[in-house]
Formats: sequence, structure tokens, C-alpha cells
Amino acid sequence: MARFSLRRLFVFCLCLSASFFLIITLQAVVELGQFEGKVQKHKLPLKDRWESQQMGSLQVPSPLLPRERGTPGEPDGRYPIIVWWSPLTGEMGRLGECGRNRCFFTINKTYHNHPSTQAFLFYGTDFNIESLPLPRKASHHWALFHEESPKNNYKLFHEPVVTLFNHTATFSRLSHLPLTTQYLESLELLTSRAHLVPLAQKNRLRRTLAPLVYVQSDCDPPSDRDAFIRELMRHIQVDSYGACLHNRDLPAPLQDSTAMDEQAFLHILAQYKFVLAFENAVCDDYITEKLWRPLKLGAVPVYYGAPNVVTWLPSNRSAVVVAPGESPEELARRLKRLDENDEEYEAYLEWKHRGQGLGEHEQTERGPDPQNLAGRSQSPPMPCAEDVGFAAGPTGGASLRGIWGPSYQQSVKEARALRLLVERNRNFTVNQFWRQVFAD
Ligand SMILES: *[C@@H]1O[C@H](CO)[C@@H](O)[C@H](O)[C@H]1NC(C)=O
Ligand SMILES: *[C@@H]1O[C@H](CO)[C@@H](O)[C@H](O)[C@H]1NC(C)=O
Ligand SMILES: *[C@@H]1O[C@H](CO)[C@@H](O)[C@H](O)[C@H]1NC(C)=O
Ligand SMILES: *[C@@H]1O[C@H](CO)[C@@H](O)[C@H](O)[C@H]1NC(C)=O
Repeated sequence: MARFSLRRLFVFCLCLSASFFLIITLQAVVELGQFEGKVQKHKLPLKDRWESQQMGSLQVPSPLLPRERGTPGEPDGRYPIIVWWSPLTGEMGRLGECGRNRCFFTINKTYHNHPSTQAFLFYGTDFNIESLPLPRKASHHWALFHEESPKNNYKLFHEPVVTLFNHTATFSRLSHLPLTTQYLESLELLTSRAHLVPLAQKNRLRRTLAPLVYVQSDCDPPSDRDAFIRELMRHIQVDSYGACLHNRDLPAPLQDSTAMDEQAFLHILAQYKFVLAFENAVCDDYITEKLWRPLKLGAVPVYYGAPNVVTWLPSNRSAVVVAPGESPEELARRLKRLDENDEEYEAYLEWKHRGQGLGEHEQTERGPDPQNLAGRSQSPPMPCAEDVGFAAGPTGGASLRGIWGPSYQQSVKEARALRLLVERNRNFTVNQFWRQVFAD
């Protein structure tokens, strides 16, 4: 697996913008920027990144080029039409930038058959098999924007479905527009020592605080992290402030879930030696703020999730990565050792003291050639573990964990059925879809 540095990824992303084939997907990202409410926590860095970049050259067929600025509302065949089919936006019609030109963006599905309609955008979380824009003309581009966890809509990531899209923007570094670092606002924040609590102080705080902190309110996801952490808690002390495995209360003003970004909350996390950073699904490149937050704060993440996380870390010694097959008890032993040995613990923060958030991997192999990715017509399938998590994890009590395996298997069948029905290129009903799934 080729190694990436974060910086390489940024460069790589910027290069991609030159490609015409990406413009529609890019536009999805910029569109996102206009709708702060819905995806507020995710899109800002991307938006800034893209907007600071003049988007390459979009070659819109000339009959469609605007001769004058038209009035939004009715495109009159002068602009390419881009339909948000599973909308992220609520706009019935708006002229927006697409490269150097303008396109008409709409959620109005009556434009399905309009001769100027060139692309359909799908927001993954709301992607619905019901009433897809079928029949699809050869000229219709489909683009998928899915910034959420794969657990949110598994079938999108299986090969038969992901290859229906001509442009993809997902957490995977192999998508056309990778969103892998979407939760990392800037490199400055990564290297910042603003929140760093000196080790001597962390040691003093250990009289009242556990070595580890856990804050999670989405309990029992596919990665089965809660079963693992429940067992871990039998071997090492964990302060758990969230709804999952809760054993300690936050101060009253911070109990609101919106307080997660407040300085006071961040300060509480920063006082801990370790922050449990367990993703809700196990897929290459699926990395969220759970990892970046402790790195920013100067606490050591104890990470479970993307098997290739090491290629994203600022240094080999910046996170304690749960090893494949490692038991909660073994992990607890490793953590206790670090808790008791200042020198070894400090080694995990050395990258921060050096102010080097990046660059450790700089000299390693190059990532894939952006041009190759941009020129590719299709995204590869989901880089997720089939057993979606701790296959042999310790058994907790009653939990949701039993449903994820079967639901994953089911999504494989759904993907096959969907592909087949879309290839027929005719409108189909939900009943037809389910008949097809169960015929599989
Ligand atoms: C959708 O667009 C059509 C024109 O194609 C227009 O007649 C109709 O009023 C629009 N619907 C809404 C809800 O704006
Ligand atoms: C878009 O993807 C579909 C499905 O893979 C493919 O049939 C079609 O040729 C692609 N269109 C373009 C313009 O690349
Ligand atoms: C990080 O670990 C990898 C694999 O264990 C190793 O090849 C590489 O040299 C290490 N890099 C540094 C900077 O320690
Ligand atoms: C496709 O089917 C849906 C519901 O089954 C219907 O509302 C829609 O009008 C149909 N579209 C076309 C183009 O036939």
C-alpha cells in the first residue's frame, strides 16, 4: 500500500481540481459550503481549500455557455443543468459557479429529461433506491457525495453500486475526491501546543482522573468498540463521559452534545494521558475527528479503526494503535506501562514538541499519480473489513452488535439487485427491488 503524507494528499487534492471530470464532484463540495446547517462540522476545510483554488477549466459544450448572466429560476437551455437527486440543498433553482462557467443547480426532479441536464448529484446518506433518475442517458453523469461513515449506507460502497457513479467523493483515498482529512481543519491545529498539558501536571491529575478518557454517545456500532472497551475497563481505569459506558459526569454546562467543541470540554480531554479513539466502522482511510482531536490537544489517541491509519499519522509514535487480534487485557498492559513510565509516554508526544505534525512520511514512497486517479472512470469498492470490526471480540451483554454482520451481508445482495435494475435502465418500484434482493 502506497504511503501518503498529509501534505501529499493536499497537493494531490489540488491537482485533481484541474480535471474536467471532477468539476461536478467539486461543485458538490462547494455547494456543501453554502449549506452550513446540514454538514457544518465537515465541510469548512474542504470548502476553504477549494474556494481558494480557482477551479480548473470546465469545458462546457459551447451552445450552453451563458452569453449574459441569466435570472435564476429557469435555465432556458443556456446553462448545463445539475440536479441534486438526493438533495443536500433545498434550492429549487439557482445559478452557481462550475469552473469558469455557470450551471443551473436544482433539486427539481422534473429536469430529469431536460436536454441540458448533464449530471445528477447524490448525497449518500439520503441515497434512495426509490425513483432513481432512470432511464439514464449515456451523457448523464452520476456523482456521489458521501462524507459519512460507511455504516450509514453500506450498499453504496460495494463494487456493483459504487461503479454506477462517474464521480465519487468519500473517505477513501481512492475516491475521485478523497475526503479522508475532512475532519482535520488545518495543519497548524495539528501541531499547535495551545492545549498541551505538561506531563508533570497530567501525573498530578492522575490522583483524580483515570489514565484514559472515553466520550461516545453512538453506542454499539459495527466496529463493536463498546464490547471491547467494556472489557478494557476491567483491566485499566477509564473515565467515560458519554452515553456509552458512562461512569463520570461532565460539568453541567458541558452536558449538551453541542459542547464537544467548547474550550472547556477540550481542556478536560487534554488533561488525560490517553483518549480512546475508536471508529464506528473499520475501513481503510475511514478516519474521523476521534483521531485528530487528541492529536491536536496533545493527548495520546488509543486508536482502533482504519487498518492503514499509520500512513496518516504525524509519526509512528503519535498514537497507540490497537493491534490486530490484540485483547483488551493486552492493550491495558501496554497502556499501564506507558502510564507508569514518563519517558516512554513522552516519546508519543515528541512529534508535537518538535512542532512536526507532518513530514515523517514525507520521504517515503509516493502516493498514486493524481492524473491516474482523475482519469479513472470508476471508484474501487469499499475498503472495509468484511467482518466489520472485532470479529473475535469479547462478548458483551445484550447489544446491537449482532445486527451489523447480517446487515452487511444483506447490503451485498442489495447492491447486486440495484445494479441489475439500473442496468435495465427502466424505472422500477421498491417492490421490484426487494423481490430482486430476495431472489438473490
Ligand atoms: C420544477 O420545474 C418545472 C419546470 O421544469 C416547473 O414548472 C415547476 O414549477 C418546478 N417545480 C417547483 C416546485 O418549483
Ligand atoms: C458513467 O458511468 C456509467 C456507469 O458506469 C457508464 O456507463 C458511463 O459510460 C459513464 N459516463 C461517462 C460520461 O463517463
Ligand atoms: C515507522 O514504522 C515503519 C514500519 O514499522 C518503518 O518502516 C518506518 O521506518 C518507521 N518510521 C519512522 C520514522 O520511525
Ligand atoms: C417512476 O416511478 C415513480 C414511482 O413508481 C413515479 O412517481 C415516477 O413518475 C416514475 N417516473 C417515470 C419517469 O416514469
